[in-house]
Amino acid sequence: MTDPAHASETSAQETVARLGLGEKAALTTGADWWHTAARPEAGVPAVRLSDGPHGLRLQDGADGDHLGINGSAPATCFPPAVTLACTWDSELAGRVGDALARECLAHGVHVLLGPGINIKRSPLCGRNFEYFSEDPLLSGVLGTAWVRGLQARGVGASVKHFAANNQETGRMTVSADIDARTLREVYLPAFRRVVTEARPWTVMCAYNRVNGVHASQNPWLLTDVLRGEWGYEGLVVSDWGAVLDRAAALAAGLDLEMPSSSGTGPARVVAAVGSGELDEKDVDRSAVRVVELARKAAAHARPGAAFDPDAHHDLAREVAARGAVLLRNKDGVLPLDPAAVQRIAVVGEFARTPRYQGEGSSRVTPTRLDDALGAITRSAPAAQVSFAPGFPVDTPDGDVAALREEAVRVAAAADVTVLFLGLPPSYESEGFDREHLELPSSQTELLEAVTAVNPRTIVVLANGGVVRLSGWIDLVPAVLEGWLLGQAGGSATADLLFGRANPSGRLAETIPLRLADTPAHLGWPGENGHAAYGEGLFVGYRSYDAREAEVSFPFGHGLSYTTFAYTDLRVSCDGTGFDVTVTVTNTGERAGHEVVQVYTSAPGSRVTRPVRELRGFAAVRLEPGESRPTTVRVARSDLAHFDTAAGAWLVEGLDHRFDVGASSRDIRLTTTVAVEGDPFAPEPGPDSTLAEWFAHPVGGPALAELLRSVQESVPGGLPQEDSPWHRMMAGLRLGQLAGLPIVPVGPDDVRELVEKVRRAARG
Ligand code: BGC
Repeated sequence: MTDPAHASETSAQETVARLGLGEKAALTTGADWWHTAARPEAGVPAVRLSDGPHGLRLQDGADGDHLGINGSAPATCFPPAVTLACTWDSELAGRVGDALARECLAHGVHVLLGPGINIKRSPLCGRNFEYFSEDPLLSGVLGTAWVRGLQARGVGASVKHFAANNQETGRMTVSADIDARTLREVYLPAFRRVVTEARPWTVMCAYNRVNGVHASQNPWLLTDVLRGEWGYEGLVVSDWGAVLDRAAALAAGLDLEMPSSSGTGPARVVAAVGSGELDEKDVDRSAVRVVELARKAAAHARPGAAFDPDAHHDLAREVAARGAVLLRNKDGVLPLDPAAVQRIAVVGEFARTPRYQGEGSSRVTPTRLDDALGAITRSAPAAQVSFAPGFPVDTPDGDVAALREEAVRVAAAADVTVLFLGLPPSYESEGFDREHLELPSSQTELLEAVTAVNPRTIVVLANGGVVRLSGWIDLVPAVLEGWLLGQAGGSATADLLFGRANPSGRLAETIPLRLADTPAHLGWPGENGHAAYGEGLFVGYRSYDAREAEVSFPFGHGLSYTTFAYTDLRVSCDGTGFDVTVTVTNTGERAGHEVVQVYTSAPGSRVTRPVRELRGFAAVRLEPGESRPTTVRVARSDLAHFDTAAGAWLVEGLDHRFDVGASSRDIRLTTTVAVEGDPFAPEPGPDSTLAEWFAHPVGGPALAELLRSVQESVPGGLPQEDSPWHRMMAGLRLGQLAGLPIVPVGPDDVRELVEKVRRAARG
């Protein structure tokens, strides 16, 4: 028997070369729900994988499931990605990754199934709580930091769900039909960033189809792009049960099928090799990757390791306080002064029974759970705190009149009411999508009744996906969007309400006025097995900003108990990118974090582009009065668009605009930088328009020369450059010129022009 610790002496290739086909095939399918197959005699231990992502869902024994139905061992429930994203803080995301790794090591888990970095295409996606943002850069940067934090401590990540898993409706079957440019610029960049910058041990393929082909057996996605273009060397694992045809999946580049398929996967592989349908080399290649992963996992395992649950609870509290977003704070109603406030009404069942994480495979059994009611009571020991549940959480349409009346009585007798509202767990989950953005009517009616007797009402929200605020927000002076705050959310909420923490969360997704305004609305959730992503590039703020549509709160928005000023914008460039430097000053009375956001645009681009796209950001903490120059690095390649004519990324030679501000709608400073473009001149042919010919560096002058030479023989001359006739002519195909009776250009002239351009292209 080979000891796994010394197995590295035998390369994975050698190990696999000694195995029979059946043994190799068996390695590429899970042994059970959470483990890969081991071959101890060959020095290949089992790998233990576990959900993920915002805490460890460790299931022992036979009760494994991928839907969050059965229980799991206690683990720290950190705020899910929806909240972590609003911190815009890579360092913090890295610390969460590190803490998760410590818990994994303590439980003997080698690979944690996360992060989820799919784009929030619509606020209706039932799983948005598990994803970071509507923006690919923010998702990719935070995902990268999280993976680095996790893997630096020796636990592998599984970045998921690759790719275009943006809805739960039909998630096993639906085809995300996305044009090439949108796929490259919106749905793949977060994956590209995590893969190239953090080198995750594993990538998990999605359940859905991408442009008609299941992600699990999509060679373009799993091999051409992931490995060919991005240079990925790790292992591709299926989402649980995502494999349809094991042989096709292996050929496409899916290394490991999970969970066990009770022998059917390996049997299919053996038969496919036998019939010549599958090349045995594909089996070898994936078996080698499984062996490499198993040995890496074993080398990093730390039997007997422990973690500090109190320290992790404190970290969960810090992240929750950093991620909650103060949306509105009229007349500085917040923070509350614990010494001055005498009677506080706490209304809403969520204050006592927190809604702190989402439903499905990511559901964690917390090590402990803070509720806001207890935390508020402890925060203001001199005040009288009264509580009323106001509504039942899980029977939203039940009889709530009595609960409402009691809440109104409590609110009427208080100086201030803190009203906890949110989505019941049954409203949003993995496995299905939401149908609307509304809070239950029992809650909005409660809000109306409570604010009628006590206008000094502060709303604290608990929801994994965006809810509509536009119907009621004007009734209240303050709204704290808590998203899902994890197990320490109750304490973090009190920290924020009483000013022990200064709100610093910034929206990672736009809050629209209403569902009908959302970019994917008309094509959601698709039909006959296809979701056509008709809004193209215009996802999230890219759409609202391009349409100048009014929103409730824009991408990047979030208030603080202090204020920040931006001065001295400077952009310096070198060969690979730009250093965008701005001085940020805390102009208020409290220490706090500002999130500096850098957007760029390319006015005058020859392709359609969003008016503003996030290119970098930095979370900076400043003491009152403190000023600090802050530099955000923007890679030159991030200015590129994916050019479908070139089939490549291109930076256009233009004046690119750099906008720096506090949200996509709160731009404080702007400058432009002349950027030298990548050489690209699509070669025009006989079917190209005259406009395309004129735009070409060789073809343009050659055509102008030809037209000048015939100018004299055209009755009345050729149209002037600025005339409508000239613009009309620009739309003609070059070949058409040869047939026009009034222009003496013949087929030979056209042929010669085309040849000239070709010769120039060949050099
Ligand atoms: C989910 C994955 C999860 C897996 C294992 C699937 O249903 O889509 O995100 O990691 O189950 O539980």
